[in-house]
Amino acid sequence: MAAPVVIVLAAGQGTRMRSATPKVLHEICGRPMALWPVHAALDAGAGDVVLVGGPDRALEAVLPEGVSLAVQEQPLGTADAVKSASGRIDPGAPVVVLAGDVPLIRSETIAALLEAHAAGGCAATMLTMELEDPSGYGRVVRAPDGSVERVVETKVPADATAAELALREVNTGIFAFSGGPLLAALQAVRPDNAQGEYYLPDVLPALRDAGHAVGATLTDDPSVTIGVNDRAQLAEARSLAQARIAGAHMAAGAGVIDPVTTVIDAGVEIGADSVIEPFTALRGATRIAAGARIGSFTTLIGSAVGEGATVLHSHLLEAEVRPGATVGPFAYLRPGTVVREDAKVGTFVEVKNSDVGAGSKVPHLSYLGDADVGEGTNLGAGTITANYDGVSKHRTTIGSGVKGGVDVSLVAPVELGDGSWTAAGSVITEDVPPGALGVARERQANVEGYAERRARDAEEAGEP
Ligand code: UD1
Ligand code: CA
Repeated sequence: MAAPVVIVLAAGQGTRMRSATPKVLHEICGRPMALWPVHAALDAGAGDVVLVGGPDRALEAVLPEGVSLAVQEQPLGTADAVKSASGRIDPGAPVVVLAGDVPLIRSETIAALLEAHAAGGCAATMLTMELEDPSGYGRVVRAPDGSVERVVETKVPADATAAELALREVNTGIFAFSGGPLLAALQAVRPDNAQGEYYLPDVLPALRDAGHAVGATLTDDPSVTIGVNDRAQLAEARSLAQARIAGAHMAAGAGVIDPVTTVIDAGVEIGADSVIEPFTALRGATRIAAGARIGSFTTLIGSAVGEGATVLHSHLLEAEVRPGATVGPFAYLRPGTVVREDAKVGTFVEVKNSDVGAGSKVPHLSYLGDADVGEGTNLGAGTITANYDGVSKHRTTIGSGVKGGVDVSLVAPVELGDGSWTAAGSVITEDVPPGALGVARERQANVEGYAERRARDAEEAGEP
């Protein structure tokens, strides 16, 4: 069998979402909805995957490698959408049509549909499901001999009769076709329905009229083929996708304690024997190595956590935590932050675009911005880099083995040499040479007998 061409329909606006964003660009677990079927198609071994989008070309920005875009100039209906990709249809190869708003389709389901299509000798094989509540879906009308006659649309009332509305077998929007007959049947579809649209299921009676057989396979797992038309269905699809993602990670050995309260995006990697506590969010291209521990209420976005590292109750955006390091609780790591091997970034510490060297510690209440810290350095509580002079940013360079006092401001550009010390409360504006102590504060003066004098003054003034 020739490799199938897969066409994913994603040019509709999706009015039922009530959103300025096109429906198929709404994300499910960090991935635009329309890319879910695209990935399923790639996994199923598709020869060519074509995504049909609108003239705004909004999908272009998210196209995965090897997937091309066909533009449907006007949303005239699903048959017209397939037509806009007809240049890609090989008359001698099977065509699979997927819907960009049926995101949870599995590669196994696509493969099974193709097999059924090849075995059944039909020109079209529709994937159908039976639903308790079929509202919103097109109903499958079968002929007395059990074969598929047509699909009745139900989005607007006028297309279906009461008897048709009572049918519980619905079109999933997913089909396998034989390329040649599909191309011919598309020409026969007319927009003579309540919505004035070219309906793709109308190719089925056209194929029958042309003497072809039309079949259907019923899927027994509707969770794979639910359509997303509104935000409630989007949330339902998200929770099913989330369970699927967490399940795959757990099967590979990741210690997800509570998959229900853990948010894991589609692209995330999690090593074996990691511990992912409840109420964590692992988003974007986050990577967690084996044996790492991610504590509750942590959000990792596009961040990497190394082997055996610990991140507790913290927010990390495009940051890297190397093996054995510890972060948090209550740390905020911003883009460009690297916390190297066995280093520690502790409580109420914000770090931006900085490199914290191996074994170094920034344990409490600090801000490091645009700083490079060497190895084995310890910065006191309240260490603050003054990295911004109101016009530009400057770097702070802190050597190895530095002992920083508490409440120290480092006014960049400035350098603390290897093995240097800073005195508590200093505002360091000049470099501190290696091994030196930088003191930059007023000396303390004590006024002897002060309390007694105040008491005497008060008595003389007749105060109680
Ligand atoms: C469609 C089917 C219906 C099926 C349901 C399953 C038709 C006419 N109806 O209905 O039988 O039960 O899916 O979920 O096919 N699209 C385009 N261009 C267009 C119109 C739509 O690309 O001009 C895309 C949409 O972006 C969407 C998909 O096709 O991804 C389905 O369109 P939608 O309007 O949601 O169809 P439904 O009314 O749900
Ligand atoms: Ca739909």
